[in-house]
Amino acid sequence: MAAKDRTVDEARLDEFMAKFVQDAGAAMSAVLVVIGDRLGLYRAMADCEPVTAAQLAERTGTKERYVREWLSNQAASGYVEYDPAGGTFRLPPEQAMALADESSPAFVPGAFQIVAAMAKDEAQITERFRTGDGFGWHEHHPDLFAGTERFFRPGYLANIVPSWLPALDGVVEKLEAGARVADIGCGHGASTIVMAQAFPNSTFVGSDYHEASVETARRAADRAGVSDRVAFEVAGATEFGGGPFDLVCVYDALHDMGDPVGASAHVLAQLAPDGTWMVVEPFANDALEDNLNPVGRVYYAASTCICTPNSLSQDVGLALGAQAGPARLADVVRQGGFTRVREATATPFNLVLEVRP
Ligand SMILES: C[S@@+](CC[C@H](N)C(=O)[O-])C[C@H]1O[C@@H](n2cnc3c(N)ncnc32)[C@H](O)[C@@H]1O
Repeated sequence: MAAKDRTVDEARLDEFMAKFVQDAGAAMSAVLVVIGDRLGLYRAMADCEPVTAAQLAERTGTKERYVREWLSNQAASGYVEYDPAGGTFRLPPEQAMALADESSPAFVPGAFQIVAAMAKDEAQITERFRTGDGFGWHEHHPDLFAGTERFFRPGYLANIVPSWLPALDGVVEKLEAGARVADIGCGHGASTIVMAQAFPNSTFVGSDYHEASVETARRAADRAGVSDRVAFEVAGATEFGGGPFDLVCVYDALHDMGDPVGASAHVLAQLAPDGTWMVVEPFANDALEDNLNPVGRVYYAASTCICTPNSLSQDVGLALGAQAGPARLADVVRQGGFTRVREATATPFNLVLEVRP
């Protein structure tokens, strides 16, 4: 490298250091969001009224000195507002919606729970960089399973019934009349249950290779009162049975699989001849350079520590990554035997593909 290439531009260094402070503050504060969520600190401020640290501690059964420090970080983060006159802190309505209301479409603490799981599993992932071995979904800290459900459910509530299913040709009509639906790689079953609640004439089978997730999904279906029409089974994507299905769904799981081509061929075998496969994947463009943005940053991080290691832990180990992009995904499902692939709709976080025989 020529000497001039190593010359440090002081202004650009300052710019990077400013970015570093932002990033370090966000990364360290992630732990504090998890603490606030677990202890109910946000929920205790959901009335958006000013509160002192002592009052919040009293409300939540916690200790004032810890709560005061936590609130100070949250104020510096822009998550709560501070009024020096009264020494009070207030959760604004927008932050209350995002941090305290689990039913809101903007609820975000699940994402920070995923960050906590990633940090807890860091040593194993670092070692996998050296060995090239995989690290299965089931090997992660349980915060990953709960965090994923809590992070994804708001998006599923906001999108599956109002926009993703209606973007598929003729599928809503079938679901209303009574269809058979499979949800592959269903995790805790949030998507399966959202669909079951909306379409009482249809029946649903969720499956996932991770036994603990399937058990959690069964309990969730019981609580939601839909277990008469929703079954969950432990099965990998190349093994699940029960077809023919009118609709097969895979929500944010195809790229996690070791053998997504084999999974595609198996979906085709389990699908009715006029059936539809809905593939929901993280939003991505085809070229890496077009994914170098804040959403791509989040997904590449999760992909490095979660999705790619899981795929590498399974047979074939294709390791698509969470930013495969629509062209690569279409190629995978075509290799599995499907002939028609269409980008049905998208959000800033998700791509929705309609795949047909
Ligand atoms: C990112 S999570 C998504 C879970 C769920 N679909 C959701 O949206 O909440 C990926 C899921 O894929 C599952 N999975 C990974 N490999 C699989 C395979 N080969 N067959 C079935 N499920 C698999 C994992 O156990 C995990 O539950």
